Parts: sequence; structure tokens; C-alpha cells
Amino acid sequence: MHKSHIEPRQILITTALVYANGPIHLGHMLEHIQADIWARFQKMRGHQCLYICGNDAHGTPIMINAEKQGVTPETMIHRIHIEDQQDFADFWVNFDHFDMTHAPENQSLVNLVYQRLTAKGDITTRTIEQAYDPVKNMFLPDRYVKGECPFCGAKNQYGDNCEACGTTYAPTDLKNPISVLSGVAPIQKDSVHYFFHLEHYADALKHWGESGHLQPEVMNKLSEWFESGLRAWDISRDAPYFGFEIPDAPGKYFYVWLDAPIGYIACFEKLCQSRHDLTLEAYWGKESQTELYHFIGKDIIYFHALFWPAMLKGADFRLPSAIFTHGFLTVNGQKMSKSRGTFITAREYLNHLNPEYLRYYFAAKLNSHVEDIDLNFTDFMQRINADLVGKFVNIASRCAGFITKFFEGKLAAELENSLLFNTFFAQAETIAQLYETREYHQAMREIMLLADQANQYIDSMKPWVLAKSPDTLPAVQNICSLGLNLFRVLMIYLKPVLPKTAEAVEAFLNTPPLMWQDIENPLLGHQINPFQPLLQRIDLASIEIFTQTTNHVES
Ligand code: MSP
Ligand code: ZN
Repeated sequence: MHKSHIEPRQILITTALVYANGPIHLGHMLEHIQADIWARFQKMRGHQCLYICGNDAHGTPIMINAEKQGVTPETMIHRIHIEDQQDFADFWVNFDHFDMTHAPENQSLVNLVYQRLTAKGDITTRTIEQAYDPVKNMFLPDRYVKGECPFCGAKNQYGDNCEACGTTYAPTDLKNPISVLSGVAPIQKDSVHYFFHLEHYADALKHWGESGHLQPEVMNKLSEWFESGLRAWDISRDAPYFGFEIPDAPGKYFYVWLDAPIGYIACFEKLCQSRHDLTLEAYWGKESQTELYHFIGKDIIYFHALFWPAMLKGADFRLPSAIFTHGFLTVNGQKMSKSRGTFITAREYLNHLNPEYLRYYFAAKLNSHVEDIDLNFTDFMQRINADLVGKFVNIASRCAGFITKFFEGKLAAELENSLLFNTFFAQAETIAQLYETREYHQAMREIMLLADQANQYIDSMKPWVLAKSPDTLPAVQNICSLGLNLFRVLMIYLKPVLPKTAEAVEAFLNTPPLMWQDIENPLLGHQINPFQPLLQRIDLASIEIFTQTTNHVES
């Protein structure tokens, strides 16, 4: 069989830095599972793929939340930082480094970016008027002001739009506004703010966006924004604020969305401290030849496809190779919400179900588009039982016993049907391309079609009948060895999705960690270990707690 040679690539990927303001939920997991599958796939192909992420630790909500809990923001973010890492690890999300934005490395980089933008004339100041809480002595972000809708009079509406009638308006339009923090009426107060002139980068951004770095639907959004005109972006907030103070501007802080994406660079810098083969320059320098991809959700496109590349450009860093935007997760057809019971934390899921089930379910639904994905628990159970247990694992459990019982765990020296094996092998590049282009759903479909073929083969050869007579017993070894080799190819194809099962299969097949290239070389005359059950069926009882959630829908 020919050796396919793949040129090694140097790739850095990120997922959005998770707010250290509450537990990881299944919506976050969609993004991290998507990225982790991609990173594991690239590594299996022999590429260097570094996957970094961290916590986004700054901003008003984090400050307020910590205050409510009676702890300092530092205490809260450090606690969540530990919990988040445990959640991700338990879902087999394999970061090369996980950090947080509240770090001296990040502060230095933020100051550097700020200096460079200032030197280019991209930063100016302007006085703006804003709602101010005279009791809490702080300026109020829009979502901290509530009042009556100026159009329909609905009470308890936020400052940007009315949930009752859908009208959008300015926070100053609200009738009888109150501060969510103190309950008193806010006053209007002046303050000097710092602005980054995004519009200086309009041409550069257009050029970048049009050169194939974005999905078509994201590009359409960008075109709309370009048409309505880019404006200067307010990058400062007044004290009290949990963030980095702006140099030479006492009492002024960088807005969280300025320091957060710079956290990607800082996080990479931290990784370099322990990996001496890596340098900041090689990955973030203007002339970088490496690939850089950001996995994000559709709600933060503006920050990643406009502000971020503009900041990078202005501060003389390289630009991302691409932004990979995904849609939102819904649960049982509903938006994730605490009151609907469709808000499922990562931990709650882990308390009841195997993380690999969710990895497979997401893989079976994910594509390269910005489409929302529904987690329907009945469908989830059926999918796992049919595909992973009924098709995939079944191949091994049907063949392994015979090899152990009659052949002392030794596989046949030849392939019983090399045509069939070649059918499996022939799909390698197709499936690789589907992973590469993030069409995971299609990859899973191709893999399950192959699993069907393997099962049909075993059905037609009936090893359990042949095993009954000594004349036909030798054929059993050939058939079951081929069955296990087909299973092994499928395991390689599924390894980015099922890393833990892959470990168990490597132990069972008595082989080193499976790489993509191993598909070419079937196990012949090879000693395997006794088979241990791999993945179990899901029963109704284990998903009950998650299907019940939709029953108490909000009125
Ligand atoms: N802290 C910012 C990102 C800063 S990146 C420099 C943030 N944090 S977040 O915790 O709110 O969201 C983290 C990621 O999770 C985002 O990409 C967001 O789109 C994604 N998701 C949050 N809820 C989601 C769903 N329900 N479904 C899918 N993804 C979701 O935004
Ligand atoms: Zn209204």
C-alpha cells in the first residue's frame, strides 16, 4: 500500500475565552467540542496543532457578581478558573494551555497594543453622557438600567429594547428608569471616554474579509456593517471597574472587549514559557507563516471579524487565517434558559451521561455553517444507541470473542477480503477532508455507512455458525480478523470524536496510539487482548431528568 505523505503544518487555534462569571454550560461545550475534534484530527494527521483558551475575567458583570457573593473578583475568577478546567478536562477537551485574561502578561500586551494604536493616531478622547447610579457611585452599562417601554408601557424592560413589543430605543427613552443595582433613578453624567477609530481600518478589513477568511454568511453580515459605516469604538470604562487601568489615565479602564482578545496572544505567550520550540514572533508576528483560527459563536462576530483584526493590524501583529463561526445550541427545541429548565451545565450533564455521547452527538450535527443546533434528548438517545452501540461497537463485540476463545488472541496473517478492507481505506481522504472543512456531520455519516458494511459482512459470513464445526473453524479467524481490522479503521476515523474509547481500543488491540496514517497498515498475525465492553446503551431513565425539563415551560 502506498504511503501518503502529508506536509506538516503549524496551526494555532483558539476558542472564545469563557467569562469567569458562572459555570460552563452545554452551549460552551458545543464550541469546545467542535474545536477539540478539529485539533485532535490535525494532531492525528501529524501536524502541529496548538489549542489554547482561557477565562475572560474582566468587566462589570463579574465585578457585580463577585460583590453579590461577598468575595473579591480575584477570588471568584480563580475559583471559576479551576472549575472550568475540570469541566473541560472531563469532556476530554485537550488544551495545550488554558489561562485567563487577568494576568500580567496580558496587561503588558494590552499596553503595547494601546501604545501602538495611539502612535498611529487611532485613539482619541471624547466626552459622553451616560446613566450614573448616584447611590452606587458608578456609571451604568445599558443592561443595568430598567424601566417602562416608551411605546407600550411594559414594565421592567432593558434600556435597549422592549421584550413585550419588540421596539428598540435608547436607554434615555425609558420611562421611570431605575438602576438595577440600587433601585434608584439614574442621573445623566458626563465623562471622558477613549475611542479606537475602527473606521481607519475599513479598507483593510474589507480586503481581509473578501480574501476568503470568513464563511459566506459571516461575510454577508460584514458587508451590512460596512454599508452602514464603521464608527469609532468606545474602549474605556470609568472606575469602579474590574479590568486594566489605562496608562496615564487614572480612574479609566480598558473595556473588557479590548483586553479579552489580546488574551489570546497572552495565553500563547504563557504556552511559550513551557514550550521552548515556540516563539511569539513565529505565531503572532506580522510575517508569521503559521495558521491561526478562532472558533467562536455567532454572537461575537463583530468583535472577532472587525475590532480584532483592526487591532491586530494597527498594532503590527498578523491577522487570523480564518474565523470559524458556529450557531447556537438549543435544548429540546428551546433557547437555553434557566427558567425553562433548558440551561444544562457541563457538570450536570457529566453527573448523568458519558461525555463521549455528547461529543458524538454534536459531531453528527455540526457543519461548517452558522446554523443553530438542537440537542433533543430523545433523538440523542436513539442516535447513540443506533450508531455508537448498535453499529460501531457491535463490530468488535461480535468478532473479539472468537479470536480470544479459539485462536489465543491472535489475528489472521492475511486479510480475508482485501477488497472490502480497501473500501474502508479508500474513504480516508474523503473523511479527512470532511474533518478539515468542519463538515463533521457528513464525516459521521460516511463512517456509519462503513460500519453498516462491516456488520453486513459479518452477517453474511456467519462466524457463529462456522465456529461450530472444526472444518470451518479456521475461516472464523479470517473473518473475525477482518472484522476487527475494519473496526480499527473506523476507530481511527472516530478517534478525534471519541478519544477515550480510542484509548480503550488501543489497549484491546494492543497497539500504540492510533494515528491517521495507521489506516494503511492492517493488523496481521498480531496478538490482541481480551475484549472489554466499550460504550453502553443509554436507557430512558438516564435521560429522563433532561427530557422533563421542557415540561415546565414558562408561561
Ligand atoms: N468572553 C467572551 C468571549 C471573549 S473572546 C476574546 C464571551 N464569553 S461567553 O462565555 O459568553 O461565551 C463563550 C463562547 O461560548 C462564545 O463563542 C459564545 O458564542 C459561546 N456560546 C455561549 N452560549 C452558547 C450557546 N447557547 N450555543 C453555542 N455557543 C454558545 O462571549
Ligand atoms: Zn414595549
